Amino acid sequence: MYKEQILKALQEVCHPGRQNRSIVELGMVSDIHEEQDSVVITLAFPKRRDPLTEYLVGATRACLIRNFPQLKSEVRTVVLEESQPKKKVNELDFSQLENVKHIIGIASGKGGVGKSTVAVNLAIALARAGYKVGLADADVYGPSVPTMTATQGLTPDAVEENGGTWILPVEKYGVKWMSIGYFASEEQALIWRGPMACNALKQMILQVKWGELDFLLIDMPPGTGDIHISLVGDIPMESAVIVTTPQKVALADVLKGVNMFRNENVNRRILGLVENMSWFTPAEHPQERYYIFGKDGGAQMARNLDLELLAQIPLVQSVRESLDKGEPIALYSGVDAEAYLKLAAKVAELA
Ligand SMILES: Nc1ncnc2c1ncn2[C@@H]1O[C@H](COP(=O)(O)OP(=O)(O)OP(=O)(O)O)[C@@H](O)[C@H]1O
Ligand SMILES: [Mg+2]
Repeated sequence: MYKEQILKALQEVCHPGRQNRSIVELGMVSDIHEEQDSVVITLAFPKRRDPLTEYLVGATRACLIRNFPQLKSEVRTVVLEESQPKKKVNELDFSQLENVKHIIGIASGKGGVGKSTVAVNLAIALARAGYKVGLADADVYGPSVPTMTATQGLTPDAVEENGGTWILPVEKYGVKWMSIGYFASEEQALIWRGPMACNALKQMILQVKWGELDFLLIDMPPGTGDIHISLVGDIPMESAVIVTTPQKVALADVLKGVNMFRNENVNRRILGLVENMSWFTPAEHPQERYYIFGKDGGAQMARNLDLELLAQIPLVQSVRESLDKGEPIALYSGVDAEAYLKLAAKVAELA
């Protein structure tokens, strides 16, 4: 009963900053209760430091004394929970990349030229040279890293830290690996539409606890579509290595890949071109070279595009076989591994 009377009386108290509407109408009287021998009235303020707080507390006290001279009362204030500033939907958190020195995309406009083969072997070769290395497999629709490193079936752990959940990369051969293949089956990934694939991809890079790295390689998916542009635009990729085969028909696609990085809005440095499958050398005739896809096509492309030719990597059966087993050739010694070790030295020098 007394609550209703008090509320009625408090309708006299108006907020000059809110068109003189009463504090009752504004919903500012958040609580009225008895405490020992007095009545406590709580006024709720939506904002901290409302300049009219003191005035309204005074006016409420005066109103109570005027209407209920016998009543012992107290007026308290409370600030309503200020809603946390909401993270914008597209706001990206780059905190996990803070200790990564160089982020390098391994790309090509063309599919099947050996981007993943080069990326995985380069990562291992850099690690063998003593660098701290990570590799993010950015091919949402056809992730290769789990198979190429025989880590398929592993599920990365996650940790909660600083208000976020971070995925721990899979560690093998001295490299930290991350791939969408650890989370989604191929059939699942295939039904992802563009934006979903883009987000999953960025998560694969930004939500991973990479720790301290000298190099983070990003194995780019084939093509130069929306996913690529969004990825190159949003991830602080410092530079790129372009992979091609010596075939003339590859040139147009490679040019698209190069232009994607040279586009004035993107403007990322290209370290150079890797010519893959430069020649075929049969295991039983190691001195012979068969130029199956043409001779020096990559070198010519590099000249035309004003790029450095970083490496010429032969087509060798052991490169494919070792990858299919999940034990990349760069783990071993011998001529086949050497091409990748040399490439690693070159990348480390230019980055
Ligand atoms: N130098 C090489 N010698 C022998 N086989 C190779 C060599 N480079 C790549 N391959 C083989 O060629 C195939 C395609 O290579 P890879 O998957 O690396 O290409 P990609 O450019 O990443 O393809 P995608 O565009 O689909 O991502 C693989 O089976 C791989 O083992
Ligand atoms: Mg690939």
